[in-house]
Amino acid sequence: MCGIVGYIGPKEAVPILLSGLKRLEYRGYDSAGIAVISCGKIHSRKIPGKINDLIGVIAKEPLPKAGLGIAHTRWATHGAPNKVNAHPHSSCDRKISVVHNGIIENYLKLKESLISEGHRFVSQTDTEVLAHLIEKFYKGDLKDAVIEAIKKVEGSFALGVVSADEPDKIVCARQDSPLIVAEGRAGRFIASDVPAILEHCRRVVYLKDREVAVLDNNGIRVFDLNKREVRFKFDRVLMGAQSAQKGGFPHFMLKEIHEQPAVLKRLLSSGAREIRRFSYPRKIKNIVIVACGTAYHAGLVGKYIIESLARIPVAVDLSSEFRYRDPIVDKGTLVLAISQSGETADTLAAVREAKKKGACVVSICNVVGSSLTRESDHVFYTLAGPEIGVASTKAYTAQLAVLYMFGLELARSLKTISQNSFKASWKVLNSIPALQAEILKAHRSVEKVGRKHHKFGSFLFLGRNINFPSALEGALKLKEISYIPAEGYAAGEMKHGPIALIDEYRAVVCIAVSSRIYDKMISNIQEIKARSGKLIAIASAGDKAIRTHVSETIFIPKIDEFFSPLLVALPLQMLAYTIAVSRKCPVDQPRNLAKSVTVE
Ligand code: G6P
Repeated sequence: MCGIVGYIGPKEAVPILLSGLKRLEYRGYDSAGIAVISCGKIHSRKIPGKINDLIGVIAKEPLPKAGLGIAHTRWATHGAPNKVNAHPHSSCDRKISVVHNGIIENYLKLKESLISEGHRFVSQTDTEVLAHLIEKFYKGDLKDAVIEAIKKVEGSFALGVVSADEPDKIVCARQDSPLIVAEGRAGRFIASDVPAILEHCRRVVYLKDREVAVLDNNGIRVFDLNKREVRFKFDRVLMGAQSAQKGGFPHFMLKEIHEQPAVLKRLLSSGAREIRRFSYPRKIKNIVIVACGTAYHAGLVGKYIIESLARIPVAVDLSSEFRYRDPIVDKGTLVLAISQSGETADTLAAVREAKKKGACVVSICNVVGSSLTRESDHVFYTLAGPEIGVASTKAYTAQLAVLYMFGLELARSLKTISQNSFKASWKVLNSIPALQAEILKAHRSVEKVGRKHHKFGSFLFLGRNINFPSALEGALKLKEISYIPAEGYAAGEMKHGPIALIDEYRAVVCIAVSSRIYDKMISNIQEIKARSGKLIAIASAGDKAIRTHVSETIFIPKIDEFFSPLLVALPLQMLAYTIAVSRKCPVDQPRNLAKSVTVE
């Protein structure tokens, strides 16, 4: 949902800003822009399109050498993704330039009153009001003007602001949108996310809501909205620069699919220690899981896991629904918030709602220092490293793994699991990285199926029990990156509607791994076959009979059904990936989507 980056230092700003933008492109990629200050003047370039298009324009019309600048990659909210609406936005006198991630909710009212005061607007964006407001309040101190401006706005923002009258500083501020400030030998930076600065430094400050920072050649200073200087601390980023690069894979998504065994191994050692140490509340009445997108599907699997192990009722809610329906949550409720980014606006709002009602909030999150982690009572990190591909893969299986470990430890503390099954379950969990690696090794069989089916106009994904959410996730992966209409359904519900869709043009992916309800799945498969649906089964190794029912089978290692979502996810991800590549889709940056949805 838009990425911003800013730089001040001894080096040439343009290449630093462009490479930072590239690392943030996952946040939005429909238009981009950059502004630098040289000889007391702001120079900018803006384009509709991706960062590479911006690089092309700058190659043709170079920007002057500069040691300071700001840049932006956009996911449009207000106004079409064209050149005029691309950031940075400017004040009337073009002396102030602003990049923004978030939404200014009261922008129309502000715009009207600024127009009545004589300000001239050129774009349809909400952001432009910030440039004019800052201009209005500017009395020779950019920081003070930014503070006065943000006191007037409602909504969310991470801002980078420069002024031609103070050509040696960047002012930035945040509220409900992520923003870091960083420092290294190469200079000082602002950015929406850590990957943008990894090449240059490791010392970062996670700015708090309603804080304003000033970066100049002397250092970084942070202020509150009363213009009082506040203390801040640097955190050290541990991830390496290569973790935000493709590492020889053609796409981030494929790299991230292949990272899953390593992520799980890490989680089962260091992550598990954290989960064991947690003091599990003994008096929980119920658990409510809130999440969006893929994280929501992980939450659905979580319901099966926790209810079955700990015998506590679990409700799973889409964050956007939870927050508006006066949910029944109180001090006896444990709210589990799941989010890769920790910045999803709806999940953050759901968490605030839950806390208002007295619930204890535990989050399962991937991004250290994100808003969710700061607002939760406790955090379990998924330790998956940066996930850049818009379609979530390794973060999903990492979320599942945390839910399994959480379920097991909760069950142990509530004494709803015997010591033997507790130990046996951990043993299975520990075997999963190797089984995932086996699946990845056999990628050719999935690719063959994918290539054969890439022209199908629609897909149905069916699963039962704990693999019903796997079916939902398989369908989501396919539609996100290949744009093929795909639906996930509980196989038992097929007769209540989806069976009407089956004909020889519809591919049906059936998750038919060994389980106590395997025979029921086979009956569903027969019903599809009788109606000429093109069947693809995901089945357990050694299941010879499955071939008599379906024409295409993808085998995964045999495992207790209860843990199978951790394996089933991989062929589904690979299938979606192969189909999208065969259709020449931009896998890492599907149209209209953004990795982190920081607006409602
Ligand atoms: C977006 C992404 C999805 C992700 C969802 C929730 O829609 O495209 O991949 O699952 O947001 O994001 P979160 O960061 O909260 O897990």
